[in-house]
Amino acid sequence: MSVCVAVLAAGQGTRMRSERPKVLHELAGWPMVRHVLETARQVADFAPALVIGYQADLVRQTLGDGDGEAGSPGHRWHYVFQPQQLGTGHALLQCEGALAGLADNVLALVGDIPLIQAETLRRMLRRHQEVGATVTVLTFVPDKAEGYGRIVRDSAGRVIGIVEDKVATDEQKAIGEVNSGILCFRDDWVWSALKSLQASAVGEYFLTDLVAAAMEQGLHVEGVVVDDPLEVLGVDDRVRLAAAAQVLRQRLNEKWMRAGVTIADPAATYLDMEVELGQDTIILPNTHVQGATRIGRRCVIGPNSVITDCQIGDDCHVKASFAEQAVLEDGVDIGPFAHLRSGAHLARGVHMGNFGEVKRSYLGPGTKMGHFSYIGDAVVGADVNIGAGTVTCNYDGKRKNKTVIGDRAFIGSDTMLVAPVEVGAGARIGAGSVVTHDVPPDSVAYGVPARVRGQVEQEEGPEP
Ligand code: UD1
Repeated sequence: MSVCVAVLAAGQGTRMRSERPKVLHELAGWPMVRHVLETARQVADFAPALVIGYQADLVRQTLGDGDGEAGSPGHRWHYVFQPQQLGTGHALLQCEGALAGLADNVLALVGDIPLIQAETLRRMLRRHQEVGATVTVLTFVPDKAEGYGRIVRDSAGRVIGIVEDKVATDEQKAIGEVNSGILCFRDDWVWSALKSLQASAVGEYFLTDLVAAAMEQGLHVEGVVVDDPLEVLGVDDRVRLAAAAQVLRQRLNEKWMRAGVTIADPAATYLDMEVELGQDTIILPNTHVQGATRIGRRCVIGPNSVITDCQIGDDCHVKASFAEQAVLEDGVDIGPFAHLRSGAHLARGVHMGNFGEVKRSYLGPGTKMGHFSYIGDAVVGADVNIGAGTVTCNYDGKRKNKTVIGDRAFIGSDTMLVAPVEVGAGARIGAGSVVTHDVPPDSVAYGVPARVRGQVEQEEGPEP
């Protein structure tokens, strides 16, 4: 049995009350529809087709990776444009050119059911195949059926129709079982059936009317009930967006706890889909790990930290800090209240204490910057001591200039390093200095502006 997938996502989603298309609202770091597409990819034999319409350019731009031929290699999905949103039946028909004849079956998903699991779809597809159905609909029983298409069954329990809420009678509205919005069709039947669809009383071409069409032709329609109705939660508004986020959060946190990560309070830990965490790492509450962040083993992260697109080694400690696009090698500890910005690279064993900021800079192994410092556009060697309040004055009003500090240099408290400037290896800068010229290695400089006043006395080494 082969399957291709269409994901219907051309609508605006007015109940979100948003300038953005509904399917671009994010859950765990991915636009909602990306969750559906990734799940679709797990069950489909070909790259899924994504039907877009409302703000189509923005959807393409945000999701990327499209526009290939149906099933072509190198594309995770491809786009089909629905110029006018004339209903779900019309939306699927737009995929004919892309999908018809590709596989035995066509699975229609919708972009606003982000929690659907591949295993549930596989179960539905197996059943579809086993019973030789022409149409299979995934159903569930929600707390309130209002707004959903009701599943009409005959006295033997066979599905005989789906009646949309918009056109249902009071008697039909009393039915508790509803359409999840996910249907599967035989490819050799669905495309011509879609072309024969009549517009409904509200002017839309309902995909769900294909159930009645199949029945009229004496074909088998199957209904598969979802075990966990949360999987088919349709995200129509921001209340449901938050509910879906909570379910995803729980799934992700459980996945990492099972992989050996301690999460002290799963309800207050926010992990994105692409995050990777090493064994025996501990995540303390109110911590957000976002984007493509990788964290190694035995780290302690949090509480109260936000880490975005960072690479963090083993045995690191991040306390109450923000970090974005930064690299922390093994054994680095930062915070509380540290801020690593894009391009910060802290080598093995760096210690960065409270109220420090590092941007586009390398701090060599064992370097310490304990308190209140700003290091930007700098290359700092190994075992450097950066005193409290040190600032690299990297911006002259026009350009960003570079500061270089050699290994083992000692920068006294409250030093201003006016870039471009270089402090040589082993040099010592006195507290409160304003360094405007390069300082040679192993020299002592201080003052405003700083002048070289002598040489560092070499400590006597151990007896040979
Ligand atoms: C649909 C089902 C309903 C089901 C419910 C579950 C139909 C006719 N109705 O109703 O039986 O209970 O989902 O949530 O299928 N879309 C397009 N192009 C269009 C119209 C819709 O791409 O022209 C997309 C939307 O972006 C959305 C999805 O299809 O992602 C569902 O459309 P919507 O109009 O919201 O259908 P519902 O009224 O929710």
